[in-house]
Amino acid sequence: MLDAALDTIEHVRDGPVWRPVPPEVRSALETPLPRQGAGEAAVFGAMLRDVLPYRTGNIHPAFFGWVHGAGLPVGIVADMVAAAMDSNVGGRQHGAVYVERQVVAWCRELFGFPGGASGLVTTGTSMASLIALAVARHRATGGEAGRRGVASTAADLVGYASAEAHGSVAKAFALLGLGGERLRRVPVDAAFRLDPAALESAIAADRRTGLRPFCVIGTAGTVNTGAIDDLVALADLCAREGLWLHVDGAFGALAALSPKLRPLLDGIERADSLAFDFHKWAHVPYDAGFVLVRDGEAHRATFAERPAYLASSGDGLAGGEPWFCDFGPELSRGFRALKAWAVLKAHGAEELGRSIEANCVLARDLAERIARHPRLELLAPQSLGIVCFRYVAGGLDAAALNTLNGQVVATLQDGGTAAPSTTMLNGVRAIRVNITNHRTRHADVDRFLDAVLRAGDELAGTCRTR
Ligand SMILES: Cc1ncc(COP(=O)(O)O)c(C=O)c1O
Repeated sequence: MLDAALDTIEHVRDGPVWRPVPPEVRSALETPLPRQGAGEAAVFGAMLRDVLPYRTGNIHPAFFGWVHGAGLPVGIVADMVAAAMDSNVGGRQHGAVYVERQVVAWCRELFGFPGGASGLVTTGTSMASLIALAVARHRATGGEAGRRGVASTAADLVGYASAEAHGSVAKAFALLGLGGERLRRVPVDAAFRLDPAALESAIAADRRTGLRPFCVIGTAGTVNTGAIDDLVALADLCAREGLWLHVDGAFGALAALSPKLRPLLDGIERADSLAFDFHKWAHVPYDAGFVLVRDGEAHRATFAERPAYLASSGDGLAGGEPWFCDFGPELSRGFRALKAWAVLKAHGAEELGRSIEANCVLARDLAERIARHPRLELLAPQSLGIVCFRYVAGGLDAAALNTLNGQVVATLQDGGTAAPSTTMLNGVRAIRVNITNHRTRHADVDRFLDAVLRAGDELAGTCRTR
């Protein structure tokens, strides 16, 4: 099975990016609860036949959709070892805890956070931001929100993020009882970056009505266009206004691995908290995110809850303070840190950084080719690995072009040729390319663009004759 897993990665280029799950495979997966076990051999066979071939596709070099990492062989092995150990990394004293602590220390170092900063490997950035904003809420209410509930302690809190911020931020506001509407969506400039002047006005307006601004969420790499907010301006503003600065760096933060790209993130080292994903630009297999919090004591105070049955005992298995369960909502936690540790250790910051740079060069070259082409239109400045554009053809109105570009993407995905995704920018449907893939080469991007033009030409012809 390990050979099959590694072979899959080795030969991924030979197959389609994506294929639908055929009806017979879906029915093979739909059975009543097994009363008797079929045995390991049968299960292995079923995995090889009915599961392994039907991937999201992100390990393929022509996968350009959403923001997915591309995986690495060392991650497969690390996951196997973690499963064999079956450790619960909520706390206590054992090897997995020391590995996760090392990952936390590396992240502190990478982002220039102080020694007192705390961190936690999470499922992803959604969970990391939820945890970070819970600490921000804890600070704003002196811990009272956790004790007495939000109705009497946090009903006047209000936070700010750009109109382009990820949906997980509003979700966190909802889950924290603050209400999605209390996340103000601040307008962006022409490059889709949060407008700091508009932010300042929004804060002043809320203060005038008696509300209590408590945090700003800056984005280092928006999901739509890769835009990076001006983190220095946001850090200055938060310092002046006494606000918590959280940075959603889901994929963009790891550009810090490249000394060439690091200046784009200036100000990130001043954040109160930072969320990002190892499963994006570090290619750690799903799922692995991370939250880093400057004030480790506030982080711990937000979540620490130790009944007698979880008492620590100094030394021995029940020792090992601090426990990771005191830094997030989960008590039982898997050993996700191992695959992050293994990828960083095996490939090193420099190689990962170079691979991120190479992705940005591919994106830049793609954007230049699009800008020069008469039947293609760039819809946003290229930023990091993201390029948003559309196919244009004479004789088609705005609505028809939106439909056409959606069909181009569907054609490429269904044909297994490439997997870009779509988004809407200022009411226009964009073909969205994101390159967070260490297997992608220039030839893959060229083939993709040729396929877009072929599909666009064909579909435009049928649109016009309709
Ligand atoms: C900017 C941004 N924030 C947050 C997220 C959510 O991250 P996750 O899916 O790991 O929870 C994403 C995912 O693509 C993202 O791009």
